[in-house]
Order: sequence, then C-alpha cells, then structure tokens
Amino acid sequence: MVQGSIEALTKEELLQLYRVARKINSIEDLKQLLSEVMDIAIETVGAERGFLVLLEGDEISVRVARGMDKEDVENPEEISYTILKEVVKTKKPVLTANAKSDPRFSGAQSVLLYNILSIVAVPLIKKGRLVGVIYLDSRTQKRTFTEHDLLFLSSFADLAAIAIENAEAREKLELENIRLRGVLGEKFGRASIVGKSKALMEVMEMVERVKLTDVPVLLEGESGVGKELIARYIHFTGPRRKGPFVPIYCGAFPETLLESELFGYKKGAFTGAVEDKKGLFEEADGGTFFLDEVSEIPAGVQVKLLRVLEEGKFRRLGETKERQVDVRIISATNRILEHEVTEGRFRQDLYYRLKVVKIRIPPLRERREDIPLLVEHFLELFTGGEKKITPRALEALMEYDWPGNVRELENTISYAVVMCRDDKIDVKHLPPEISGEVIHTEKPRTLREIEREAIIQALASTGGNKKKAAELLGISTKTLYNKIKEYGL
Ligand SMILES: Nc1ncnc2c1ncn2[C@@H]1O[C@H](COP(=O)(O)OP(=O)(O)OP(=O)(O)O)[C@@H](O)[C@H]1O
Ligand SMILES: [Mg+2]
Repeated sequence: MVQGSIEALTKEELLQLYRVARKINSIEDLKQLLSEVMDIAIETVGAERGFLVLLEGDEISVRVARGMDKEDVENPEEISYTILKEVVKTKKPVLTANAKSDPRFSGAQSVLLYNILSIVAVPLIKKGRLVGVIYLDSRTQKRTFTEHDLLFLSSFADLAAIAIENAEAREKLELENIRLRGVLGEKFGRASIVGKSKALMEVMEMVERVKLTDVPVLLEGESGVGKELIARYIHFTGPRRKGPFVPIYCGAFPETLLESELFGYKKGAFTGAVEDKKGLFEEADGGTFFLDEVSEIPAGVQVKLLRVLEEGKFRRLGETKERQVDVRIISATNRILEHEVTEGRFRQDLYYRLKVVKIRIPPLRERREDIPLLVEHFLELFTGGEKKITPRALEALMEYDWPGNVRELENTISYAVVMCRDDKIDVKHLPPEISGEVIHTEKPRTLREIEREAIIQALASTGGNKKKAAELLGISTKTLYNKIKEYGL
C-alpha cells in the first residue's frame, strides 16, 4: 500500500472502501464479486473502463472488464499490455496522466491504437504474492488520474485481494460440496431403494409426494426395514438436498446430554461447557433434521422439542437469546408411537406435531416379493455380480421370517458370500437359523466343510480376533493360522 494512505482519503472514498469490505462478506460468486468491486472502483475514480486481471502462473487473464455504466466492456483485449507487464514486473503501481506524451509508454502500440489517455494500475498482492492487477483507464480529456486516485486504488486493491481470496476459498468449497452431493445423490437416489412389492410401492408413492414439501414425517417400522434409508432419500432427492442432513440417535444420550446435543449451549452453562457450542438444530438449518428412535426422548426434552416444532424457536442452554431455524423434521421409531402416547410415555401434542404425515414401512415378511430383488442387489454390492444364488437357497430365504428385516437379509448375504467358495450360493452357505430345516434333507457334509464353517463362525463371533477364535475352537493359534491358510479364508 502507498504510504500514509488512508488518512488522505476523502470521506466519500472511505465510504466506498467500506462498501467493498461489506461486499466481501456478502457475495459468494467470484465473478459477480469482481464485477461489483470494479464498478465501485470505476465510479469512485471516475474512470471510463476498469479491468481486473489475474495472474495464473505466467498467464495474464482478464477476468473482469467493466465500463462506466456497469456493463461488460466489448473488447476486453483493448488494454495496454505494456503497462500491465510493467506492474507485474515491478510489483509497483503505475500512474500516467497522459500516456501518449509519457516517455515510458508513448511507444506502446495499444496506447496509440486504442487511443488511451490516462491510466492508473495497481498490483493486487495476496500474502506477499502478486496475484493480479487492477487497471483503470480513460480515453478522453474528461478525467486524467492523479496521485490521489492512485492512493485510493491502492487501499482498494488491498481489500479486493482479500475479497478474491475469500471468494476463491468459497468457490472451492462449493465445488467440493457439489462433488459430494453427486456422490450422495447416487447413493441415495431412487435406485438405492430396492423392491417392487405393492406394499413398498405404496410407501414410495407417499414418499414421492411428501419429499416435495416441508411437512414433518414420522416413519414407523420394525428394526431394519429401511427407515433411515427412506429419510435420506427424502432429503437428498427433495428441495432441501443442498442443505445438510443431520441425524441424531435420540436413544444414544442421557437426558442432559441429549438436550445440549439438540440445542447447544453457552460457555459456562454447566461444568465442562468451556466454549459456546451450536446444537444440531442449528447445524441442520436449511436442511433436514432426522430424529431417529424418537420414542426414546425423555419427557423434559419432549417439551422443548415441541416448542421448536410449534414456533421454530429455541434457546441454547444457559442463553436467554432466542434463535430461529428453518429445518424439516423427519422422525423414526421402531415402536408404535401411538401406544407410547397411550402408555403416557410420549406427549400427545408432540406426537401430533411429528406425525403430520405418518408412513409405516412394512416388515420384509409382508413383502416377500422384494426378497429376490434385494438378494440380487446385495450380491451385486458385495461380489460385483460374481456370485449367484441357487433357486433352492433363494426359496429358503423367501420362507424365512426375517425378524431383523432388510438389515438381517443384508447380513445374511454377506455371511453366505464368505461361506461360499465357488460362485453359487446354496442352502448350506446360509446361517443355520435359515438353512436349519432344509439342511437335514441334504447329503451329509464332509468334516472339512464342517470344520471350515466352524472356523468362519468363530472368527465372526470374535470380530476376527484369531487368538480368541482359537480358544473358542479349542485349538492352538498356530493350528488356526494353518487352517485359515488351508481353507483360503
Ligand atoms: N429397500 C431397500 N433396498 C436396499 N437396501 C435397503 C432397503 N431397505 C433397507 N435397506 C438396507 O438395510 C439396512 C437397514 O436399513 P435402515 O438402517 O434404513 O433401517 P432402519 O429402519 O433405520 O433400522 P433401525 O430401526 O434398526 O435403525 C441398510 O443397510 C439399508 O441400506
Ligand atoms: Mg435406523
């Protein structure tokens, strides 16, 4: 920056700098930010045209070219490159009141060609590094630039550099966000919800309708039926997909902790509150808040939750100030929440707030037609389609009752994939509770097969801990290692 700068500026100029500073935080789009920043510079200095040039490696690229009337300049290449290069080389500002008679530039082709009269150009310096140039010119006698303009423009360039840095960082984040959203979109698109049964279609029909709205949705269904999957689908394919999806497992916290998780707290609100903390409601602002295991919320927290749902307002613990958030609520439970109300464990008013739309996701045994599709889906997921299932094994899966629903089916397939060494999963590869009855009708298994399965089960039940697994099997760790190798596990 030029020495003694700020003090010498007029009130009007300071005001303009202040406007730039404000803009830095309000505009997220880099191109728009740069254009507006240039407009302010042009207006304040009374220039005819303004260029913002950024350096990318050795390349000089004109990012913004603006005219007096806040419009883009038609021929942005009509700029004095001689002067730009001078600024880039020396990292010092250049001011010339009359370029045509200035011995430094009078020979420059562009000056003559484009009839440029007065030019002021200042370096944009970010963390000590030259990143670009702000260049203003005037081609008529109307305005010839002065030292004072240079002074203003230098302060201005310092602010602009910060603005650019901010906007670039934000742009990068935004790109990363878009990329992640793409990944999530794939993961949570319609294809991720497998099944064609009438029961599931009815659920999806409701889901497609509610996902476009903001109404609170309560998802009821047994464990493992896909409640969270559907909650995510609603969020990631609905209008709030650009906002956050924030899940909380209400059963995982004791009362006071749940409260501070939900609403946040102020520093000093309780021992251990060493700094202010945002609650998940605030984290979910603009997006969807997924209250999982909602029946587990203790009475004290139910009251506070009701208030947020009624008024959209809440307070952080230990704070008097009210905060407002814009969140869409989806809740889930594997109980019948109405029973919890009758039993007096859940507030009726809160229940009505949460279940504006209630969707019951039927258990897998009520939609057995989905089983083959799900099996195929999980086989594809786990083996890339390398393993198939025999009709007999599929039949056993169709007949089983699935108390753990789709999650149990998913685990069963992953178990079978491990148990099966060739590319056909048969009944004998299924867990005993499913294969049980069928297995007796089969020809006896070899000792090797039985041994292999025993090892797999021991490893599975000890989470892969070989020492513990060996103990369980009553063999030495060394023997276990040998057998693992032998069976290619
Ligand atoms: N229709 C479906 N298509 C594909 N995968 C599914 C389907 N339904 C459930 N799943 C899968 O089954 C598993 C369990 O689903 P999810 O976690 O959504 O169940 P949940 O109802 O929330 O269970 P819980 O009550 O135990 O929390 C997940 O891995 C999920 O991806
Ligand atoms: Mg769940």
